[in-house]
Formats: sequence, structure tokens, C-alpha cells
Amino acid sequence: MIRILTDMKISLVLLSCIFIFLSQCKEPQSTKEIERGFIADSAMVVSARVEASQIGVSILENGGNAFDAMIATDLALVVAYPFSGNIGGGGFTVFRTSDGMTGTLDYREKAPLAAHRDMYLDGNGDIIPEKSTLGAMAIGVPGTVAGLFEIHRKFGSKPFAELIQPAIDLAKRGVVVSEKQAKTINNYRKYFERANHRTIMLDKEWKAGDTIKYLPLARTFERIRDNGREEFYEGETADMLVDYVQKLGGIITKEDLKKYEAVWRKPIKADYKGYTLISMPPPSSGGICVAQILKSIEPYDFGQFEHNGADYIQLLSEAERRVYADRSYFLGDPDFNIIPIDTLLSSYYNTERMKDFSLEKATLSSEIAHGEIEIVESDETTHYSIVDSYGNAVAVTCTLNGAYGSKVFVEEGGFFLNNEMDDLSAKPGTPNMFGLTGAEVNSIAPEKRMLSSMAPTIVAKNHKLFMVLGSPGGPTIITSVLQNILNVIEFDMGMQESVAASRFHHQWLPDQIQFEKSFDTIHFGHLRKKGYQLNQGASRILGKVDAILVMPDGRLEGGADPRGDDTALGF
Ligand code: DON
Repeated sequence: MIRILTDMKISLVLLSCIFIFLSQCKEPQSTKEIERGFIADSAMVVSARVEASQIGVSILENGGNAFDAMIATDLALVVAYPFSGNIGGGGFTVFRTSDGMTGTLDYREKAPLAAHRDMYLDGNGDIIPEKSTLGAMAIGVPGTVAGLFEIHRKFGSKPFAELIQPAIDLAKRGVVVSEKQAKTINNYRKYFERANHRTIMLDKEWKAGDTIKYLPLARTFERIRDNGREEFYEGETADMLVDYVQKLGGIITKEDLKKYEAVWRKPIKADYKGYTLISMPPPSSGGICVAQILKSIEPYDFGQFEHNGADYIQLLSEAERRVYADRSYFLGDPDFNIIPIDTLLSSYYNTERMKDFSLEKATLSSEIAHGEIEIVESDETTHYSIVDSYGNAVAVTCTLNGAYGSKVFVEEGGFFLNNEMDDLSAKPGTPNMFGLTGAEVNSIAPEKRMLSSMAPTIVAKNHKLFMVLGSPGGPTIITSVLQNILNVIEFDMGMQESVAASRFHHQWLPDQIQFEKSFDTIHFGHLRKKGYQLNQGASRILGKVDAILVMPDGRLEGGADPRGDDTALGF
């Protein structure tokens, strides 16, 4: 049983109920012309690379369903987007079938069996720099291959061999390096050198327009095609992985790989003004945090807010501050912790948390701790969205954590390994590479799944599919997903217009509002006067959202984020 310790203030509950009731029937009401992006009649894939979107769409055109397309798109991203497309990492899938059934699959990495609480600390109890982010000790046991096979077992309609073949062909044909990709590969050169004996990325200084062929990866895919899931977890590929990681001083064993299982989990569901959010539960904080922020702001009348105006920035930042404080304290692997999900999602709890919010001045994060909930027994990535012509939808966010993960590249197998161990709290109370401060709930233990912020999300309206979305960006995933839901529902934007709009972010600590480089500075003076610390990075972008919106006439509008090479395709 979970009990809120704060005093029950009946009047407040009544007031918030009235607010919520009055705002329930929100319909996009504007008379403004909605700007639209790419439109398809019935099926669409939006992903980080055109090659992957093309491969996903070709599966759909040949009668495959969204789950078939997911497997083919995911494997194509391993080739076309090695920055984060992966078989050496993990991910989450949220789905909604044509008959309204919803669910999620967790194939998040796990801490190896030999992991222990203080593995990233020196003799003085201080964090050893880079140990949880660069090289073999940073790697969590990968879950992606288990996840794809599990999706296939339950929902696949075409043979796995048919779904992996386009990625094999792409790896052999090679992928043309884009401007953005050339920049990232060359930026990370020194790290590849430090983490590895050799990687394909070090073969030469890659330029935009060059073609990289991934032949060892093609061979790995062929072995997986021929031998199935076991190839990665117990076969030749498992041997390659473990041998290389151990040679580099890592602790992953064959036993770790053999024990790995993907887990079906019940989605986080929350209502917001007549819409239903369906998102990822723990070990991701994504679904709970997006839902909590929506619940915190639901009582407010958005008619009074200008999009990205000062009051709107304040309202969201204050809700985010409170929710990220809760994230740090309450959220972690549900197989190791009791998580007060029902309370965290309740309107009452979130309204209570907002009761000291005032537009007059900033609350300080130092004055905000997690909420009072007594529990009695009873945190580089890529996202893609798919809708098929049968009406099934999948939202998938997968990650190696940092760009190219640990930078460890299993040369023989042709793939990078994650550095997801940094998403566990190396030292509770000390920030990780995303500045997220973790607590005991997310401390390191063998086989624990690290807390994530990934939020693959589906929104339904009147029991029909409305939106499919998600984003990379560590903690900024949550606020990127949130702002896109609000852009469409509250500010009547089209999907492409929405994903392109500038974003901002607050995560409790550090106590600052972060703004994208493109964000209009017009309200900054006003916000500073109210006591907000503002941070607008010269090259800062927040998230990279790939989304699909079902338009009133039933056609689909894609939102492919212009911050990357992302592409919406469909028919
Ligand atoms: O699971 C998480 O929250 C992080 N590992 C995601 C990392 C990420 O999004 C990096 N991308 N830009």
C-alpha cells in the first residue's frame, strides 16, 4: 500500500477536479492553417536515416506489419546509424495494435554478474573519471537482439531471415556518410583510439560522400539469420564479444549473455484532457515523468499561454523541476525496487507538488526535494516511429547511451558496445554524464537494469490512434516528448511543425533552464528577473523527435526532426 503523507486538503482536491473537468474536453480549436510535413495515406516509418526508413517501408509495402517493419528498420539503423543504432546496446518498444491492445517490451542492458556497487570508485571513494563511460568497464549486457527476436516471436508475420536480409545487403553495399555523420565520426576519433585496438571508423578520415562498407557486421547478421537469437547470446558472436571485452579488461562473461532475457512490461497509462498517454514504465523513467508533468500542468488553461512564451516556460520548468526530483529519488529497476507508480501518476499528488508554484518568481531547486511518499510493502540514442496500414503502431527508442557507446568496437563482429553502466548511479548523489543525480534506488548491483529516460510513446484519442513519438537526448527525451505532445494538443501544430519548433528543458539539477541555440531570447530578461538561471548553449539542441500524427481525415503526417538526417517515408 502506498500512502501520501501530506495532509489531505479536500478543498484543493475539489478545486483541481473542477479544473481538470473543465479542461477535459480539449479539442484542437484553432482557426490557424496547420503547416504539414510529409503525408502518407496509410503507412509510415520515420527514423534517423533515409536508408532505414526505406527498408522499413519496403517491408510494409510487401504486406509486413509494423512489428516486421520494426525489426528491419532497427537492423538497418545498426548499419546506417552506428552512432546509436545497435546490436550492442538495448532499447524499449511501446506498441498499440489495430484492436487497441497496448504493451511494452524492455530489452534494456543489465549490469554484469560481476558488477558491484563501488566498481567506479577509487580507494578514497571518489569516482574514477571515464570508467563508467569509456572502454570495456562501461558496458552493460546488451539486450537488443533478444528484444528483436521476442517481438518477432509474438508479433512477426514474416520470417526473421526476410527481415534481416535488407540490413545484410545494406552492410555489404555500404552507406554514404552524411555531413553530420562525418562530423561525429571525426569528433570521436580520439576516443575510438583510446578504447580499441582497431575500428572501421579509424580506417581513414571519413568525409561526407564517402561510402563505408560494414563487412564483418554483414557476416554477423548472416550468422544471426542462420542460427537465430542464440548466435548472439551463446554462439560464435558471443565468443567474439566476450573475448574482446575481456582482453580490454571488461567483466562481461558468457554466463551474462546466456542469462539475458527481454521482459514484457505493463505500459504507463495516463489521461490528459481526453487523450491517453501510453508509454514506457520502469526501468525507464520516461513514461512516468512525461505523465507526471502532464498531470502537474493539466489544471492550467493553455488559452492564456503563448507557445514558448515566458509564462509557459515557467510553468513547464517548475513542473519539470519537481518531477525530476522525484525521478532521482523514486525511480529505478522495478525488479530491484518498489516503485510508487500509482501515487506518482495521480492528479492529487502532482497538483499538491505544484501548490507552491507561482508565476511571480522561480522556486529554487535547493528548496525542492522529492515528494513525501511512504512506501509500505503490500536515466546516444535513436528513436523511430512506425504505423502500418492495418492500424498497428510501434514506438521504439534504442541506445548505446553515449555516441558510439563505450567506443569499444568488436572488430570481428563489426559492432559497437554500449556504455549504459553510466546510467546507474556510480556514486549516489553525484551526477552522471547527463548531469542526472541518482540515488540509492539506482545504485549498482549485479543484473540490475539501469534507470533510463527513454520515452517511446503512443497517444490515443477516443480509443483511436492519435500520435506515435519519441526522442534521443538522455534526460531531455522526457521534455522533448512532452513539448511535442503539447505543441499538437495545446498549440494546434502539425507534426512536422511541432518537431521543428525550438525546445527548452529543466531537470531539477543543475538548477537552470536549458534552451536550444535556436530559441528566441525575447523573454530571457523577464525570466532572469524572476530568478531563473538560463543556459543557451551555442550549439545546443534538445532531443531529436521522430513522430507520426493521425490527421482528422485518417491520413498520416510524419514529423522527421530537422536537427538530424531524419526522414519520413510511407504510402
Ligand atoms: O537510457 C537513457 O536515458 C540514456 N542512456 C539515453 C542516452 C541518450 O539518449 C543519448 N542521446 N542523445
